[in-house]
Parts: sequence; C-alpha cells; structure tokens
Amino acid sequence: MTELDVHREERELTEALRTDVRSGLSAEPKSLPSKWFYDARGSRLFEDITALPEYYPTRAEREILAREAAEIARITGARTLVELGSGSSEKTRLLLDGGRDHGALRHFVPLDVSESALSEAVEAIRADYPGLEVHGVVGDFTEHLDLLPGQAPRLVAFLGGTIGNFLPADRMKFLRSVREVLDAGEWLLLGTDLVKDPATLVAAYDDAAGVTAEFNRNVLRVVNTRLGADFDPDRFDHEAYWDAGAEWIEMRLRAKEDMTVRIPGAGMEISLTEGEYIRTEISAKFRAAGVAAELAEAGFAVERWWTDEAKRFGLTLAEARPSSAG
Ligand code: AVJ
Repeated sequence: MTELDVHREERELTEALRTDVRSGLSAEPKSLPSKWFYDARGSRLFEDITALPEYYPTRAEREILAREAAEIARITGARTLVELGSGSSEKTRLLLDGGRDHGALRHFVPLDVSESALSEAVEAIRADYPGLEVHGVVGDFTEHLDLLPGQAPRLVAFLGGTIGNFLPADRMKFLRSVREVLDAGEWLLLGTDLVKDPATLVAAYDDAAGVTAEFNRNVLRVVNTRLGADFDPDRFDHEAYWDAGAEWIEMRLRAKEDMTVRIPGAGMEISLTEGEYIRTEISAKFRAAGVAAELAEAGFAVERWWTDEAKRFGLTLAEARPSSAG
C-alpha cells in the first residue's frame, strides 16, 4: 500500500460536493464544478480521452516537454518537482528524466484529488526512479497548496491546460496563491491550450467515439453515488459549445425531456425542462500575450514561452518575482 498524505477524507469530499450541488443546481443556468468528474471511473475516462485522435492537447504538450525538458531542468536547477492535478503523471516522466540527467532533482510531489489515480502513479514512479523521493498528496490544489513538502528551488508544474477550468477571477486567485507558497526565484511551469479554429476545438470536446460524452455524464454518476441522487445519465445529451466571446469551451449536459431528480444527500429535488442544460465544465483557451499578462499580475516573470510545431498548445516557464513586501 502506498503512503500518501490525505488532506481530503471521504466525509469532507461528500460535504464539499453537497455544497457545490446546492449552489450549482439551484442557479440559473444550472452548473456543476468540473473537478467532480474525477472519481476512479472519471479519471480512467480522462486517460482514454487523452488517446483520442481529436483530443490534441495531451500530445501537443508532450511534444513540447520532450523537446524542452532538459532546458527546463537547466534553467530552473529544480530540487523539487511539484505537480498539481497530476493524474497519471505520464508526461511528468519527461520532466523527471530531464531533472535526473541534470542532477539536481531529489523530490517529486504529485498532488491530485483522485486517490486511485495518485496511488497508481506514485507506485509506478517509485519503481522507475529509485533515487527519487516521491511524496504523494491527495488534495485539492485550490485549498492545499500551503501543505506542500520539498526543498528549494521548487518547480510547480500545472500541465494539461487545467488552468482553463477556472473562471477568470478564480484563475487569478489561484495563480496568486501559487505565487504565495513560493519564494522569489522559484518556478511555475504552466500548460495552456491555445485559441484556434472552433471546429478543431469542438471536435476535441465532442469526439466521434463518445468517450467525452461518457466522461461528461460521469459527473451525474458521482452525484448519484455520493448524494444518493437518481439522475439517469442516459436522459442527457452531451454538448461542447465554443463561446467565442469568452474564448472557452463549455461542456454541457442537456436534458432530453422534462424530469425531476431527487438528491437526498443535498436535501433537494430539482426539475429540468426539456432542452435545459447543466454546465459541467469551462475549458478556457489562451493567447501568448494574455498568459504573460496574467502571470505578471500574479507576481511571476515569464522566462520562456514554447509551443508545439503546430502552435496548438503553449507552455510557459515563469519565475516568482520578489514580492513588493520585500
Ligand atoms: C484535464 C482539464 C485539461 O479541459 O481539456 C477533457 C478535461 N474535459 N475533455 C480539458 C477535459 C473534456 C481537460 N483538462
């Protein structure tokens, strides 16, 4: 059995979901936070998504990491790699290889909400990197950043474009909280999916095989399991909508017919009319200038900006600037 630091117990998780369900499903339009996709089944479905022909972000980011991992290790001289929302940590191996070859990397701290995904990843990395100290943390990166172990200089990696799941205001709060746990001179490596033609974007979130649709519906199964709700996932259509003004993809679950749903664990019963939707995720897409501006506002200085050959995905290496407090 892998030892992990668990900052989120089952009871607390259910409590947090109850809070999110109460506010999200009583709002107009209805919404649920995307972090609830990721139980064991949802994490597996996301892994399946990353292999789909339409879902390019994972491959595009891997292309950049494969090309630049040695450069990242050289510039940062990181002793600790912290990975937020690490999932299977598969791309992380490129960074670990770079750090190992450079010689400075000693600690790897993956943090993820999914205990199942994390423990598998920790086992596999321990087996393949014998000299590396691996310290898995089960937690929510919006809440548990202050508890991260490891020696300076640290490199915090937030990959995959997951930063895009925050609403803009929450995104700035998050970037500032990362800056706060770092000392000046430590590092952030940030993956951002880029704005591109809508057809490519929509296809990436509405694949022909229907894997993303199942991933989307999984959030209803999570609410059923944790809160005893009686959502019938098959009575919802999956939708990926490109909001050209906000420059984000919205995933929605649209009711195929009128229905009422009981959610005993949240003490509520809701009704949906035919065609009404629940927003389940936003996935914002970025431009180079916007990323640099937001990082500057959060207290970082961009050191390097890379894209894949096809310019689909961006990777930024940024340094924590001395805070104005000194
Ligand atoms: C893991 C959050 C980066 O937003 O692209 C994949 C999740 N949602 N397909 C993304 C996701 C639909 C993914 N992130």
